Amino acid sequence: MTPEPVRALDALPVSRRDLLVGTGAFAAGAALAALFGRPSVAGATGVPPWPWPYRPLDPDTVAQAGYEGYWQGGCMYGAAKAIIGQLAQVIGHPYTLVPLDMFRYGAGGFAGWGTLCGALNGAGAAVALVTPKEAHSQILGELTGWYTQTAFPIYRPVGQGALTTSVAGSPLCHVSVSKWCAAARAREDSQERKERCARLTGDVAAQATRLLNAYHRGTFAPAFALSPETAGCLDCHGAAGMSDTLGKMECVDCHTPHT
Ligand code: HEC
Ligand code: HEC
Repeated sequence: MTPEPVRALDALPVSRRDLLVGTGAFAAGAALAALFGRPSVAGATGVPPWPWPYRPLDPDTVAQAGYEGYWQGGCMYGAAKAIIGQLAQVIGHPYTLVPLDMFRYGAGGFAGWGTLCGALNGAGAAVALVTPKEAHSQILGELTGWYTQTAFPIYRPVGQGALTTSVAGSPLCHVSVSKWCAAARAREDSQERKERCARLTGDVAAQATRLLNAYHRGTFAPAFALSPETAGCLDCHGAAGMSDTLGKMECVDCHTPHT
């Protein structure tokens, strides 16, 4: 059955508009079913409750999919598609419902602003789709800590040479890209920089997959710890102190220590 195109709220017939503005799980689910053109199943909607079911994936396959996805829609799209797309192949419905185009906005650290690395953002969306809140906070904390300490890129497409690597020390796209540009003596707008980010997209998606696989098998064990310096700042500025700061990034990247 071909899904109906999604239309603006005002253009929907009254009955559907009512469904959309109605509150409660049934109305929301029914509205989704209406939007996606899927029949309701036994009072439910065909969309299972969150988190969605997961099955372990092959990290190498995911890395390659992330690399290829980067060239189609950028880093966030590539990372999200690598995992969700593999789940769509291995499990099928409901992963086939996810409109992957929504992940295009994350390219260049959110629409080119250089904030959160889009590969982390895309992998994060996929991880959050398949794990409850407590678990994905831990898994993504681990993924982000690993990201800040890893020399990227690792993934190398078959038959292609290695690139210069650099350690970002930060989850920010700006820091990650500019440190690599400095290390590689490459321009940000060069093909080589894009190749670097494409490979990094594969790396991040693959690492997220390893963490998800471990969580699924009951062997996930968080290991990331704040640097002693940042932990020291947070002793006073974090929740146990003045509580005027939120975050886990390296404070001294941006601030001069004070006495
Ligand atoms: C022993 C407690 C303590 C530690 C450790 C500490 N701070 Fe502070 N920090 C303070 C206090 C107190 C203030 C003043 C707060 C105010 O005036 O509201 C302050 C102010 C600041 C400010 C505001 C601007 C300024 O200089 O007044 C920044 C930024 C800051 N700290 C960053 C850091 C960073 C980064 C670290 C770790 C390298 C750190 N702090 C470690 C207690 C601490
Ligand atoms: C990516 C850069 C960056 C990182 C990393 C960072 N900060 Fe900041 N922080 C800023 C900026 C920019 C401001 C706003 C500065 C201003 O208004 O003078 C700020 C503001 C603050 C302030 C309030 C300053 C004031 O004027 O009173 C505190 C306190 C602070 N940061 C503490 C921390 C601590 C502690 C960490 C580590 C957990 C941290 N920051 C990490 C960039 C950063």
